[in-house]
Amino acid sequence: MSTLADQSTYKPVKFSETVITELMIPSYSNFGGKIHGGILLSLMDKVAYVCAAKHAGNYCVTASIDTVDFLQPVEVGELVSLMASVNYVGKTSLMVGIRVISENIKTNVVKHTNTSYFTMVAKDEQNNPVQIPGLILENKDQVRRFIEARRRKEIKQNYKQELADITIPADFEQCKQLLANERCAVMS
Ligand SMILES: CC(C)(COP(=O)(O)OP(=O)(O)OC[C@H]1O[C@@H](n2cnc3c(N)ncnc32)[C@H](O)[C@@H]1OP(=O)(O)O)[C@@H](O)C(=O)NCCC(=O)NCCS
Repeated sequence: MSTLADQSTYKPVKFSETVITELMIPSYSNFGGKIHGGILLSLMDKVAYVCAAKHAGNYCVTASIDTVDFLQPVEVGELVSLMASVNYVGKTSLMVGIRVISENIKTNVVKHTNTSYFTMVAKDEQNNPVQIPGLILENKDQVRRFIEARRRKEIKQNYKQELADITIPADFEQCKQLLANERCAVMS
C-alpha cells in the first residue's frame, strides 16, 4: 500500500466510474426476437474502454474477458445500462468490473443480466504497455472488489497453467478409450 506522499499519481475509483445506457432497437435482435449476445458484449467492451482509458489517461486495449454468463434474455424496447468501475490495478493493466441491467420502460421491472470483468492494458504512443495510476479505495466495497479481483487474477493464472499442462496420450487407442462415454463417434 502507498503512503500519502505518492498519492498524486493515484486516482479514486469514482474518477473513472462510467455508466452507458442504450435503448435496445429491433436491429439488435436475433431470430428469436431477443437481443444478440454480441450486441451486449460490444457495449461491455465500450464501457470497459471508457472506464479504463479515463483511469489510465491513455489509450487502452482489451487483454481478456473473464466470464460472460447471460443470466436472463434482454427484450427489444428495454433500456440496458452498463455500470463500470475500476476494481483493480496492476502495473500496466487494470480490471474493470461491469454490471449490466435491463429495464422494461413500461413496468419499470429491472433485471440483472450479467456481471463481467474486463482486463485492459494501457498503451503508449509506440504501442507499448505503459504504467497506469494507482487506485484510491474509499469504502469497504471498493476494498472488497480489489481483493476479489486480485484473487480472480491469481486463479486465472493457475487455470492458464493447468490448461497448458493438458497432455494427450500418444497412443490413439488410449485416446479413443478416453472418449468412450462421450457423445462423439470416432470413425477411424
Ligand atoms: C494484451 C497485450 C497488451 C499484452 O502485451 P504483452 O507484451 O504481453 O505485455 P506484458 O506481458 O508486459 O503484460 C502487460 C500487462 O498485461 C497483463 N496481461 C497480458 N496478457 C493478459 C491476459 N491475457 N489476461 C490478463 N492480463 C494480461 C499482464 O499481466 C501485465 O499486467 P501488469 O503490467 O499490470 O502486471 C498484447 O497482447 C496486446 O496488445 N494484445 C492485443 C489486444 C487487442 O488488440 N485487444 C482487442 C482490441 S482492443
